[in-house]
Amino acid sequence: MRNQKKLLTEPDKLIRIAEKWGTPTYVYDEQVIRDRCGTLRSLFPDLPVSWLYAVKANDNPHILNIIREEGFGFDTVSYEEVLLCKKIGAKSRDIFYTENNMTDSEMAGAVRDGVVLNIGSLGRLESYCRSYPKTECSIRIKPDISDGHHSKVDTGNEDSKFGIRMDLLPEAQSIAKSHSVKISGIHAHIGSGIQKPENLLAEIDTLLEASGHLDDISFINFGGGMPIPYRPPDEDFDLLHFRDLAGKRLAGYLKNKNGAIRFFFEPGRWVVGPAGLLLTQVNTVKDQGRKVFLGTDTGFNHLLRPALYDAYHEVANISRITEPGKTYDVAGNICESGDILAVDRTLPETKTGDFLAILDAGAYGMTMASHYNRRALPAEILIRRDGGSKIVRKRLTAEQTIEAFLKDTRYQPKESS
Ligand SMILES: Cc1ncc(COP(=O)(O)O)c(C=O)c1O
Repeated sequence: MRNQKKLLTEPDKLIRIAEKWGTPTYVYDEQVIRDRCGTLRSLFPDLPVSWLYAVKANDNPHILNIIREEGFGFDTVSYEEVLLCKKIGAKSRDIFYTENNMTDSEMAGAVRDGVVLNIGSLGRLESYCRSYPKTECSIRIKPDISDGHHSKVDTGNEDSKFGIRMDLLPEAQSIAKSHSVKISGIHAHIGSGIQKPENLLAEIDTLLEASGHLDDISFINFGGGMPIPYRPPDEDFDLLHFRDLAGKRLAGYLKNKNGAIRFFFEPGRWVVGPAGLLLTQVNTVKDQGRKVFLGTDTGFNHLLRPALYDAYHEVANISRITEPGKTYDVAGNICESGDILAVDRTLPETKTGDFLAILDAGAYGMTMASHYNRRALPAEILIRRDGGSKIVRKRLTAEQTIEAFLKDTRYQPKESS
């Protein structure tokens, strides 16, 4: 059974959460996250493989802490994420910072904090080496192998903004050498929601090969991108098959290698995606002739994936256990016609006041949420291992949202008459 269904086995519990904490609310399941971490951790028992969690997928500090307890390090892509990981107790050496157009002050912060800096351009490598000679860093390459669930998240292709071109590796090496900087790691990330596992395997081959062109490599990071099934009948990513094929390559590489080397993977979506859902309440049922809309109290400001990537999320009416019998579009409350969360879904006859669960929303849900239309952000609830639940982010009221906005903008409110 797919993990996310675990969250749905107790619709009464979800309804109690919705009634107690209101909607819209993200709900996460701690046990599912821990189980998924454990599955990955035990994948390569005989190989020097470590796991980093891609913080961008879901950065709630309670979730980061669970994942840290499970023995994962962190893959960060901004200095803010670095700071956040430090605040949840991650050790600097367990924080990998893949920069992307990093500023000098962010670079200085990362060096001060002692995290592993992964540099993605020759210009930045040059400025790093000039500023911090006799140190070490990692480099991200552009492998010209790419894959993702949508063109906006396939990151390894020829025209990608990410990574250093493979043919520039000798130049990278000579920049580093001229400042006595050791390039100790090499990294690539080909995209998110990889559709063809063979692309990930090809990237592994490419990185293993590329590492041979660098003198002092002590780790290779293959990035993230493992997909999860969103739309029936999507199948789970075949982890065991992947393990067999990737494991063979890694073991073969180690045989011919003198000296210690570590391998890293940095998944985000696979770890937390199925562990979360978004609870929302239907407040309008509207027949527009060809379409019947279920109008909800959330929108693309809370779950951007359908609007940004045409992504599919399953929707369940947790207030009704009856057989599905009607076709609806699920609409958000944002003032844009593109604010549609689900199209042509067959659900039980749905009434105003019903609660819907939008599934597989644990990754790239809350982290991509915004205040568009000046709306408050959703609350977040964590179902603990003992079955109890705790709030891990409260929802501000409309008044509090505006107060916070005025405070941030330093606008002195006037009294309205
Ligand atoms: C550098 C990097 N690593 C890892 C990830 C995690 O990807 P995913 O959540 O698909 O595993 C991302 C996300 O795109 C990324 O940009």
